[in-house]
Amino acid sequence: MLPNAPAPIAKLLTMMESSARFARESVRRAAAEFGPAWEADLSAMLQNFYGSDAALQDAVKGYAAFVMDSMRRQKRFEQELSYPAKTYAEAAAEVYYNDDYMRRQYLPGLLLSHYLWTHHYQQIEYFKGFFLPWLQRQGVDAFAEVGVGTGIYSRLALQALPHLRGTGLDISPLSLEFTGAHVGSFGFGPRYALRQQDILQSDSPEQYRAVICVEVLEHLEDPVAFLVGLKKLTAPGGRLFVTAALNAAHADHIYLYGKPEEVIAHVEAAGLHLEHSFFANAYAPAKPGLPVPGALAMVLTVKG
Ligand SMILES: C[S@@+](CC[C@H](N)C(=O)[O-])C[C@H]1O[C@@H](n2cnc3c(N)ncnc32)[C@H](O)[C@@H]1O
Repeated sequence: MLPNAPAPIAKLLTMMESSARFARESVRRAAAEFGPAWEADLSAMLQNFYGSDAALQDAVKGYAAFVMDSMRRQKRFEQELSYPAKTYAEAAAEVYYNDDYMRRQYLPGLLLSHYLWTHHYQQIEYFKGFFLPWLQRQGVDAFAEVGVGTGIYSRLALQALPHLRGTGLDISPLSLEFTGAHVGSFGFGPRYALRQQDILQSDSPEQYRAVICVEVLEHLEDPVAFLVGLKKLTAPGGRLFVTAALNAAHADHIYLYGKPEEVIAHVEAAGLHLEHSFFANAYAPAKPGLPVPGALAMVLTVKG
C-alpha cells in the first residue's frame, strides 16, 4: 500500500494497522485523488503537530472513534431524516466543553478527516485555489477565523501568505488550545492571536477584510443570526469563506441543511452576497434517494 509514501504517511499507515485498519483505504484513495500537494501537506502536519509516536497513535484512535460515531449517527439519520432534537446549549455541553471527548476524539478525528474525507479535502483545495489568492492580490494583511476547531484553515492561510496575521475565535477553550498548539507547531504563533468569544453574544472590537468560518452554521439554532455576526466582523468590501455541512449527522449538528440552496437563502437573508461556491458529496448514495453527507463552501462579499 503506497510504496513510495513519505515517512510520516508510512508511519500513519503502520499505526492504522492496529487501531483503524479501515482508514488505510481512505489514505490510499486520497493519495491517488489529490497527489503530491496532499502528500506534502499531510506529511508536514503529521511531522510538525504529531511529532511523537504516542501523540500520533492517540490521534489515529481518536479518528477511528470519530468515524465510527459518525457512521452510527448517519445510519440513524438515513432512517429518520432528521437530527436528534438538541438545543445549542446541550450540544455545547456535550461537545465543546467536554474535555475528554474533545481531546480524545472530536478534534483529532476532525483534523484527520480534513485530509482523509474526499469532500473535506476538496473544500481545502477550493479555499487554496479561490479564496487565498484573492487575499494575496488585494494585499490583505489580517484575517479572522470564527469557530477555529482544529485550526487547520487558519494554519493554511498563515502558511500560504507569510505577511498575513490572524485572529482565531471560538467558544471552546479546548478548540482554542488545540488550534494554538497546531498553529504553533508550524512556527506561526507570533502571527496569530486566539480569543474565547461567541460572536452571537458580543461584537468584535475590530473588522477584518477577510473572515473564515468552516463548518459552524449547522451547529446553531439560528444560522442567519450567526451569519449577521460574521457580516459585522467583516469590513465593507471584504470577503468571507464560509462552509456548511449538509445531511451530516454529528454529535453537535443541530440545524439540518438538506440542499445547498437552503444555505444560500440564509446567506442572502443575512445581507451577504454570494460570489461563488463549491459543493461536493462525501460519497455516492448506496441507493437512489438516500441522503449522503455533503459540504458547501462559499466565497461571500460584504458590499463596500
Ligand atoms: C466543527 S468545528 C469547526 C471546524 C473547524 N473550523 C475546523 O476547520 O477544524 C465547530 C467549532 O465551532 C465552535 N463554535 C460553536 N459555536 C460557536 C460560536 N457561537 N462562536 C464561536 N465558535 C463556535 C465550536 O466550539 C467548535 O470548535
